[in-house]
Amino acid sequence: FRTLEDVDIAGKRVLLRVDLNLPVESGRVTDTTRLERIIPTMREIISRGGKLILLSHFGRPKNGPDEDNTLRPLAAAVSAHLDWPVSFAFDCIGEETQEAVAAMQDGDVLLLENTRFHKGEEANDPAFVAELAKLGDVYVNDGFSVAHRSHASTEGLAHVLPACAGRSMQAELEALNHALDEPERPLAAIVGGAKVSSKLALLGNLMKKVDYLIIGGAMANTFFAAQGRKVGKSLVERNMYETALKILDAARDAHCQIVLPEDVVVAHDFKAHAPSHVVGIDMVEDGDMILDIGPASVAAIDKVLAGTKTLVWNGPFGAFELSPFDAGTNAVAQFAADRTSANQLLTVAGGGDTVAALNQAGVGEKFSYISTAGGAFLEWLEGKSLPGVEALRVNNGK
Ligand code: 3PG
Repeated sequence: FRTLEDVDIAGKRVLLRVDLNLPVESGRVTDTTRLERIIPTMREIISRGGKLILLSHFGRPKNGPDEDNTLRPLAAAVSAHLDWPVSFAFDCIGEETQEAVAAMQDGDVLLLENTRFHKGEEANDPAFVAELAKLGDVYVNDGFSVAHRSHASTEGLAHVLPACAGRSMQAELEALNHALDEPERPLAAIVGGAKVSSKLALLGNLMKKVDYLIIGGAMANTFFAAQGRKVGKSLVERNMYETALKILDAARDAHCQIVLPEDVVVAHDFKAHAPSHVVGIDMVEDGDMILDIGPASVAAIDKVLAGTKTLVWNGPFGAFELSPFDAGTNAVAQFAADRTSANQLLTVAGGGDTVAALNQAGVGEKFSYISTAGGAFLEWLEGKSLPGVEALRVNNGK
């Protein structure tokens, strides 16, 4: 696909799709990671003399414009990070917006209101795509985290305007490609989280690609129960036992080694600092709840990682939001981070809780690449093609 080098920017109206779907509390952005990642693309477009028009969704509005989902407060946040003035248009299409765009000088920045305030966005309606396209000469997509949506501003525009990937999209695709499609082997994946049922496609795809599949989190309990082990009152998915056994068989056939915890930390209550102790995986008792992996498991996982060159990580090992049940996740994260710093391991992580867990472990900065994507990262792990990325590939310079 094409990148910013391949398109003319000077004097052009550049429609840049970003993902400003940031966590906001009382009008204040609480995590600016996604915003920081797109700043280089914005700066490049400004310095090359483009007129920068920012397109994004925010939240999931269902019935047109509403105050809870306006992008208005984001204009100040973008401006502060960019250190450059940012104007705001109260609609992403229409005459007033066209006039605001017509009045732009080279280097100006205009943020448009939430694209999802129009039904045509999610419907990827050609009429809405055409309205958006009136505002730009070039389309740049820098929103990997929303590339799993086939919407007008993520997919449709790439078919009607000259299109390319922005710098953060480019970095993301290069990192992900390096980790899973052309990895240095051995390659390991850590998959945690609560439910096997939500990660079936992901496990199925990963076992075909990785040498080691390390399973943690409450989903490991379902595997244990399926194997006839006692899991006490731990979270399990009873209707998934057969599926879990099939996954183990399929992994064997694919020559993928599954690594399940050897010992676990159990407590009687699901709360922070609940009295807890470590038991072997065959010693879990009726009143016990498995809340983390134990030290023997951490050692076994570290041993696997010591022999691997690439690691893809999605999902925490334990109830990381409750101290001290974050200890297993923290220990493995620290080991992986140290090996990354020593240039012995390439580490790519992403998807929902993962980033929060790794930041909490204090290693977020040390991993080779941390994706800011939630759903898009999961779909990529599932091996699905992402419409926003595919559209950039097929566009060959209209
Ligand atoms: C995200 O936050 O994962 C993206 O912005 C996509 O949002 P969506 O799930 O509402 O499409």
